[in-house]
Amino acid sequence: MADYETLLIERHDAVTLVRLNRPQALNAINSQVLADLTAAFAAYDADREQRCLVLTGSEKAFAAGADIKEMQSKGFAEVFGTNYFAGWERVTATRKPWIAAVAGFALGGGCELAMMADFILAADTAKFGQPEIKLAVAPGMGGSQRLTRAVGKAKAMEMCLTGRMMDAEEAERASLVARIVPAADLIADALKTAATIAGMAPLAALANKEMVNAAFETGLSMGLLFERRLFHSLCGTEDKTEGMSAFAEKRAGVWTGR
Ligand code: CAA
Repeated sequence: MADYETLLIERHDAVTLVRLNRPQALNAINSQVLADLTAAFAAYDADREQRCLVLTGSEKAFAAGADIKEMQSKGFAEVFGTNYFAGWERVTATRKPWIAAVAGFALGGGCELAMMADFILAADTAKFGQPEIKLAVAPGMGGSQRLTRAVGKAKAMEMCLTGRMMDAEEAERASLVARIVPAADLIADALKTAATIAGMAPLAALANKEMVNAAFETGLSMGLLFERRLFHSLCGTEDKTEGMSAFAEKRAGVWTGR
């Protein structure tokens, strides 16, 4: 396993646990974090043994935002010229499932990074926000789009315009997070949830992720067609034959990934 300057990586059978590790800056996301996450997610996607990934931070902060000190001296010519933040598309291109397990602050780029995940599990200590407006800027890693799709215009607009934080309970009510877990149980719960996903037929996991994501990119009739065609495709896999035989024979399926 590669070493990363800003990440700690553990393997738990078929689940990869990635911890953001810049405690001195509350896991603020600088260029090194992006480079490390890009490499770690690409390695995960390419590893046939790994079937689900959990990304987490510390008890105090998932991530307190993009690194303000790194951005402080950057003007328009530099950020526009280098397409600053465009590199996150390499993280969101990850085909296999991954979960964000959020405790503490998930602010600005931290909230945006969590929202790139397939879903968020929140500790009861989690706090989400897009406070960029207080720095006289605005979200730049997807917050205005993903937060609005997740919680609707009213809450997204209020959060972006006031910079206020949303606690875990409000985030669950607003469908920003899948579930709330006591902080002490967050990692164990996330690993267990990831192990459940890792135990599914791999091609079915890819297809389920693709079709849910298609709901954000297409109209209903194209989305339904996309879903149906992917369903048809799965019917051509060995694992579908095994899965339905296993059900009829009252035993667990054994997957080949074919
Ligand atoms: N960037 C760089 N450093 C950060 C940081 C950030 N986003 N957030 C925290 N830090 C650093 C602090 O500067 C501090 O470092 P020093 O000890 O060297 O001074 C250290 O982390 C600890 O932070 P605090 O002392 O501030 O901790 P706190 O418990 O008093 O406050 C906090 C916690 C409320 C999260 C506060 O740190 C804070 O408001 N952070 C900034 C949040 C923010 O504005 N995020 C959005 C950034 S812009 C963005 O993300 C753009 C985008 O859309 C991509």
